[in-house]
Amino acid sequence: MLSGCYTVRAPDKPVFSSGEAQSSNLTSPTSGLMSEDSSSFETPVQEIRLSSLPFDGLIVDIGGGGEGLLSRLEKGRVCVVDIKLNKIREAQIYGAPAQWAVSDGRHLCFRTGSFDIATLWFSLGYMRDWETKELVMREIQRVLKPEGILSILGAKIICPEDRLLFKARFMFPDGDVSQVGYSLAGNQNQSLTSTMIALEDSGLVVLDSKDNGHWFKILAESSR
Ligand SMILES: C[S@@+](CC[C@H](N)C(=O)[O-])C[C@H]1O[C@@H](n2cnc3c(N)ncnc32)[C@H](O)[C@@H]1O
Repeated sequence: MLSGCYTVRAPDKPVFSSGEAQSSNLTSPTSGLMSEDSSSFETPVQEIRLSSLPFDGLIVDIGGGGEGLLSRLEKGRVCVVDIKLNKIREAQIYGAPAQWAVSDGRHLCFRTGSFDIATLWFSLGYMRDWETKELVMREIQRVLKPEGILSILGAKIICPEDRLLFKARFMFPDGDVSQVGYSLAGNQNQSLTSTMIALEDSGLVVLDSKDNGHWFKILAESSR
């Protein structure tokens, strides 16, 4: 790792076993309070079945705090990066043996070509403006090895309302379930199409994509 990176040791023991966490109230990483006059759009609960990534190698998970989806799925081969220490602490509750770093996705504290895979799972919507989203994509392109893979799961955020509450139930292969409500700034023009265009502009090549209505999936490859 380079300077400007704050690594975070996991607690010695997980605070909960995964079964306990599943039935706790800790699975709703909503952010901030809404003022009384702001409008919001709420999605129906999206049932999302998670499975391991079908690629070998080291993963950097950008915006991977909160529910810690990737670290719970891929465990020791994940380096979780989040701009907020408290979000990393939330994810560490699940006890995954990952690496943890506080770092800004726009300026990652890793050497060029360090990772085989990068993930942006429901974190792009927290990078509200397109300048930020594209800076993060370019930085991902830099830290990926040549022909490294980027996996994106993203909420569609095209509503005119001030806020979008994206509700989902994530099902893990081992039977764990996490129900979340991601509270996002609305009106971002974030869709499958706009995200694919930004990826191509950032030098990544889209390999595959799927529109699931309120959310989308993209697989892209570094073209370095
Ligand atoms: C709520 S989480 C999304 C889901 C997360 N991937 C999970 O597994 O639960 C989004 C995260 O992105 C982080 N984030 C926002 N902007 C960021 C940036 N520029 N660099 C790194 N992380 C960022 C937020 O702090 C937040 O924890």
